[in-house]
Amino acid sequence: MTSSLAATYTIASVPGDGIGPETVAAARRVLDAVSADHRFSLEWRDYPWGCDHYLETGAMMDVDGIASLATSDAILLGAVGRPDVPDHVSLWGLLIPIRRSFDQFVSLRPARLLKGVASPLAASRTGLDVVIVRENTEGEYSEIGGRIFRGRDDEMAVQEAVFTRRGIERIARYAFDLARTRSGRVASATKSNGIVHTMPFWDEVVSEVAAEYPDVELTRYHVDALAALLVLDPGAFDVVLGSNLFGDILSDLTAALAGSIGIAPCGNLDPTRRNPSMFEPIHGSAPDIVGKGIANPIGQIWSAALMLDHLGEQAAAARLVRSIETVLASGISTPDLGGDHGTDAVTDAVIASFLDAEASL
Ligand code: IPM
Ligand code: MG
Repeated sequence: MTSSLAATYTIASVPGDGIGPETVAAARRVLDAVSADHRFSLEWRDYPWGCDHYLETGAMMDVDGIASLATSDAILLGAVGRPDVPDHVSLWGLLIPIRRSFDQFVSLRPARLLKGVASPLAASRTGLDVVIVRENTEGEYSEIGGRIFRGRDDEMAVQEAVFTRRGIERIARYAFDLARTRSGRVASATKSNGIVHTMPFWDEVVSEVAAEYPDVELTRYHVDALAALLVLDPGAFDVVLGSNLFGDILSDLTAALAGSIGIAPCGNLDPTRRNPSMFEPIHGSAPDIVGKGIANPIGQIWSAALMLDHLGEQAAAARLVRSIETVLASGISTPDLGGDHGTDAVTDAVIASFLDAEASL
């Protein structure tokens, strides 16, 4: 019997800065084991971009960087940022241009309570299983504005937020479609009581989209109250829809509620699939623990699972997430979760659990 040709995916590996190279190396080891055991292969392309590259060349990535990444099926990113390079230089030279150039307008950030991981707050009583759907290309993250009269008493800065009907509609549709596959509830973060132009517009467009989904329940919350409710009663929420900034803040909150930002994954998605999507943990470059071998690889590995899911390898992705759950439940974890294992030991345990799951099938 002839077997059908195995799929090969080209993955751009951008480890970036700080602990990024450590967590990306870990995720790559896992992915290579996963692909060897499933019927697909991964072809890695290495892009050594980041702050070192910036200090050597004056740019965070090569001039043809975006064109080069465009030829990959997906991008696995580690972390960006280093204390001696200003954040607005490093992030706006690498992470943000990739999100925007590839129209990765969805930032998908699941957070849930996993066995073996203690939640600091009410999540442990009421449960937590949410997905933050964050608008990822416009909103408060805009280059429009400027700064004048530097150093003078009357110095000023203006930063415009940009909200488009198309931008709000497409992220809202994504959230409502996702809610249909989950509990059928969307909580939309707004702040229309204080921000009087963009947020009422956001609310209006989200409501118009909601009308197309009579089976999905939409509730609007001012983002400050939503932050408090997520802490006090996280079990009440499922899909949480937010603008770029609100989604950014709420996703750190839900990650912390789930026990550690070290485990939280993120997919920067172009759902149209015209461009590669990018997968990264939501944690930063953690310069304080670089090289110590204790970085939590789970956020990166879970992001890699989101990548497999996006590439169409759902079975492998689900099996990998189960392996993560098994390892954490068994008490094997890095110090940020109270454990005493290093990056390599946790990674080995995920691989072993993954291969075990196969053996027991
Ligand atoms: C994130 C990060 C980034 C963001 C920073 C590093 C620019 O916080 O991915 O959540 O705000 O988008
Ligand atoms: Mg963030």
